[in-house]
Amino acid sequence: MATDSPPNEIAAPAPTVDAGRLLDRLAALAEIGAIEGTEGCSRLAFTDADGAGRDLVVGWMGDLGLDVSVDVIGNVIGIWRPDGCDPDAAPVLTGSHIDTVATGGRYDGNLGVLAGLEVIETFASAGTPICRPIGVAFFSNEEGSRFAPDMMGSLAYVGGLSVEEALATVGVDGAIVVDELDRIGYRGSTPCPGRAPHAYVELHIEQGPVLEMAGTRIGVVESVQGISWTQITITGQSNHAGTTPMHLRRDAGYAAARIGAFVRDLAVDLGPPQVATVGAINLHPNLVNVVAASATLTVDLRNTDDAVLVDSERRLGLFLDELADQEGVTITSRSLARSEPVTFDPTVVGLVEAVAVDLGLSTLRLPSGAGHDAQMLARVCPSAMIFTPSRDGISHNPSEYTEPADIEAGTNVLARVLLHLAGRNR
Ligand code: GLV
Ligand code: MN
Ligand code: MN
Repeated sequence: MATDSPPNEIAAPAPTVDAGRLLDRLAALAEIGAIEGTEGCSRLAFTDADGAGRDLVVGWMGDLGLDVSVDVIGNVIGIWRPDGCDPDAAPVLTGSHIDTVATGGRYDGNLGVLAGLEVIETFASAGTPICRPIGVAFFSNEEGSRFAPDMMGSLAYVGGLSVEEALATVGVDGAIVVDELDRIGYRGSTPCPGRAPHAYVELHIEQGPVLEMAGTRIGVVESVQGISWTQITITGQSNHAGTTPMHLRRDAGYAAARIGAFVRDLAVDLGPPQVATVGAINLHPNLVNVVAASATLTVDLRNTDDAVLVDSERRLGLFLDELADQEGVTITSRSLARSEPVTFDPTVVGLVEAVAVDLGLSTLRLPSGAGHDAQMLARVCPSAMIFTPSRDGISHNPSEYTEPADIEAGTNVLARVLLHLAGRNR
């Protein structure tokens, strides 16, 4: 395959992308589910807003003459097969996701999808000849905040999750994936798992502070850390807040708070790159003068080293057992998502770096702290990612921001990498 060529033998320059056109599309997509008074948006997977965002992007794919398919779990792929390319060859794929967390920014995921469209439009306008088709995908439910696991669509695409299981998933609001997909009209007919691409390259914002702090324009992503999500349910005894002596309480709220403190201490004890978060917590009945009867909370543990991640999971499990004994509560836990650390293809990683350097851009190799569809595609084809800086390292927040010049630079790197992988048809 084309990735066998040494990275320093990169293809002739690709035509330069139109950053204004890309920013206009990002702004138009961000209007769907816009969070008033912010630049951000809220398009949780399979909601009406997600459906409307999908319609807009599918419309753009149609305008560009792509062959658009929707698979049975709602993954959408638009493939560009210009005259002169081998229409049956496995495409070089790019893309990401367009669902967001409920308090999302306009760049997370959306950038990778719309940059892919921008590259194709640029190549099409310039008449750039290619040997292999180039596809742009947006995978269903990357965020996982409504329906776990995260990266659901790309995981199913590579055969890591059965379609039946994915469709039957019940969300935090009680909705079921299959019903929601039907409702928004995105339960397609293309089979899933899908065809392995020739290679996959995803442009994404870094969502962290590393590039900005280093004053670097392009992140060359070598790996993605492992992610472990657990939902914990604590059952205690609801009682009067004024009359129940402290030593007689079976307080689910207190136990939940202890877990929050424990995972933070655990991450500090293990040291970087271990991170740990309790991001969601619900108490019942959630009243000022009632000892909580039950609590549900989530724990997100991540590490680039799977052995340490496993150890953090083990230590959490031991703590939960001790806590249940000490507090007289019942604690159950269930895994919501578990992905191992992933190392990207060294040749494609080297290609990203060589292209960026050739374009005069500063580069830094780094692991990804966030999960990405690319880590799933890496199971079936050579894959890599390109990061652009995030202002103040802020993401999963409506104020997420990346400088237009960095978006342009990242998209130009993407263009040249895709052109190299798709092979210039001389
Ligand atoms: C996805 O954005 C994740 O890393 O949680
Ligand atoms: Mn993302
Ligand atoms: Mn995200």
